[in-house]
Amino acid sequence: MSRTIIPLWNNWLFKKDFNNSDIRKDIATDDFTPVGIPHMVQEIPYNYFDERNYQCISCYRREFAVDESMRGSRVFIDFEGVMAAATVYINEKEVGTHKGGYTPFSFDITDYVLYSKSGAADNLLVVEVDSTERADIPPFGFAIDYLTYGGIYREVCLRFVPEVYIKDVFFQPLDSDKLEKKLLANIEFENTGAENKDITYSLVLKDMQDTIIAAVTNSCIAAAGTSFQRAVLTDLQDIQVWDIENPQLYRAELCIVSDTSRDEDIISATVGFRTAEFTPEGFFLNGKQIKIRGLNRHQAYPYVGYAMPKRAQQDDADILKHELGINLVRTSHYPQSKHFLNRCDEIGLLVFEEIPGWQHIGDEAWQDVACKNVEEMILRDRNHASIVLWGVRINESPDSHNFYLRTNEIARRLDPTRQTAGVRCHANSDFLEDVYTMNDFICGSVQPDTLRDRALRPQREITGQADLVPYMVTEFAGHMYPTKRFDQEERLVEHATKHLMVQNTAALNPHICGAIGWCAFDYNTHYNFGSGDRICYHGVMDMFRIPKFAAAVYASQMPPSKKAILEPLTRYTIGERSIGGIAPLMICTNCDSVRVVIGEQDLGLFYPSKERFAGLEHPPIIISQIEGVWGGGWLDAAFIGYVNEKEVAIKRFACNPTAVDLAVHSDHTELSAYEPDTTRITVKLTDRFGNELSFSDAIIKVQLEGPAEIIGPKEFALIGGVRAFWIKTKFESGTVTVNVASEGFKTKQITIQVT
Ligand code: GAL
Repeated sequence: MSRTIIPLWNNWLFKKDFNNSDIRKDIATDDFTPVGIPHMVQEIPYNYFDERNYQCISCYRREFAVDESMRGSRVFIDFEGVMAAATVYINEKEVGTHKGGYTPFSFDITDYVLYSKSGAADNLLVVEVDSTERADIPPFGFAIDYLTYGGIYREVCLRFVPEVYIKDVFFQPLDSDKLEKKLLANIEFENTGAENKDITYSLVLKDMQDTIIAAVTNSCIAAAGTSFQRAVLTDLQDIQVWDIENPQLYRAELCIVSDTSRDEDIISATVGFRTAEFTPEGFFLNGKQIKIRGLNRHQAYPYVGYAMPKRAQQDDADILKHELGINLVRTSHYPQSKHFLNRCDEIGLLVFEEIPGWQHIGDEAWQDVACKNVEEMILRDRNHASIVLWGVRINESPDSHNFYLRTNEIARRLDPTRQTAGVRCHANSDFLEDVYTMNDFICGSVQPDTLRDRALRPQREITGQADLVPYMVTEFAGHMYPTKRFDQEERLVEHATKHLMVQNTAALNPHICGAIGWCAFDYNTHYNFGSGDRICYHGVMDMFRIPKFAAAVYASQMPPSKKAILEPLTRYTIGERSIGGIAPLMICTNCDSVRVVIGEQDLGLFYPSKERFAGLEHPPIIISQIEGVWGGGWLDAAFIGYVNEKEVAIKRFACNPTAVDLAVHSDHTELSAYEPDTTRITVKLTDRFGNELSFSDAIIKVQLEGPAEIIGPKEFALIGGVRAFWIKTKFESGTVTVNVASEGFKTKQITIQVT
């Protein structure tokens, strides 16, 4: 096929300022640094940095070759995401600008490139990147509770297509609830020539093993300029629906077919056949009611912000689905990496995706950019089976009737198959969307005594509508109860309890589609939010994706057949809590019962608290009293979990924990040399039962040899007994060895193959 994509990952030059002369070919580049994409303009410490440091205008340069054989093709430069505005120059000429850091953009650079036979990199791409918080670009203009970082933090590619090419295809799986299904392709052709052209094109549906299931071939006249066509596959038999348990995907391909390969073109995407509907009576996936149990995700990582490769994005989806067991993620507050979304498709994690913004609505020009964001988000992502809802309001913004008429209209026009929503934090809001979505922070707010246990407000109190409407809670907890992983035990337990209460209340209320907690991971923020150290400790996991107690609330809702979860919410010490002891003890578990053994004494079996948490599939076990003698008689403990009377999990605690091991774990041991790649390595000190030592701040020294580098510092202290770091590859293959040392312990070595 003649569509050729050339990723531009490495061999960039970067400088943290920009002069007009930087677009010239003949300048000296001594003050530039070689970098690779994804890239952040300035690495930052984990906390206590000045967020203004990355808010700069910078310059990226990249030389590239275009082979003579490509003459006749159209040449595009595609950017997946540049924070926050970009002006692109090819061979000293400006080819375009783009405002907004979360959506993709492309420029046709055919008329600007030079061709060579020798493979010489004759062309110069220069990108002027404005990472300042410009008031004319969403989410900026007021305050925002997160950082946007800065730089070319997602992929850049050269794309070569024929004179008549496929500009866009929306593959719409239809009749997903019927035995015989359909696939409709809404196609946009672009004919860049002056004359109309006859073309033949085919729509193909394949299974993921590449076997053709159905195909149709049509002909049409591609008029000069843009033209629209439809192709449809009908009577599709034996198609499995895409579901969260069985996320069956298919591959849809749209090709321009021709005798000459240079006139051929192809766009393909994975598709899933499913129905998804938010109703006043709950959320239905393929006609089956599912209570949404979700978390919000910021795409931020320590040190490099957003600039993390594909694998880290995929791993986040896996953590949400397989470690936390949630069924939906909200991409708060912007469109996130395509790799993250692809992974959500593959593993069956539902997505609520929304446009960039935070509380503030700017002037008309600003609103135009926001409307463009709606368009860019939906055009990029409407083929994802996992996405079930478009967020078309600025998060927590006031009502703005005409603006939101516009955003809703764009969404419904570009994608009639999905409902719209818009997240607000005030009641009686102008309801222009299909689903009323609300950040309900009542749990934990100062309330009259009678309401103290109130976890969520009933929907009518919020919507002010006479009738029930599709309704979902999109945030709770968060700033109402910030909790550090290394906080005192009681606070961690209370944090978990709030998540339990809200999820339980949402589950019991038939008119709430579900609840999405704030949030999955701690995140960097501005000085005027969070704990002052530039972190909001609102996650059920920290920024390194290491769990707090509240993570077990979610994990324990997974079926035990998937993974047995048994997490007593305690550090098991005599004097960590006020007054002392570990009672009342909450155990987040999906076991039927848990036996508690203290020393030699069997305290018997304990059962889930079904009355207090009737809405949850797996309520926690609450043990109100465990006797211990203050100052004496503190003994080892064992918690043994049973499912169907079979032992499935055991958790032991040492009465006198001492550090016996430096435990080091790499999430992956095989990485790619072809593309930017990364793995997280977790470090902790553990006791004789392998438990982390929650208050250790031991110094860790990391040393790496081979074709990779450490992201962030090479020497650091553990935070609450654990910490992680990421390494990234350098487009070279070989063996990477990582030595992790801490004084007094055996140095651990991890070996990673880069191929
Ligand atoms: C919400 C907001 C989130 C986050 C959260 C903290 O109001 O939408 O972005 O700031 O509060 O709890």
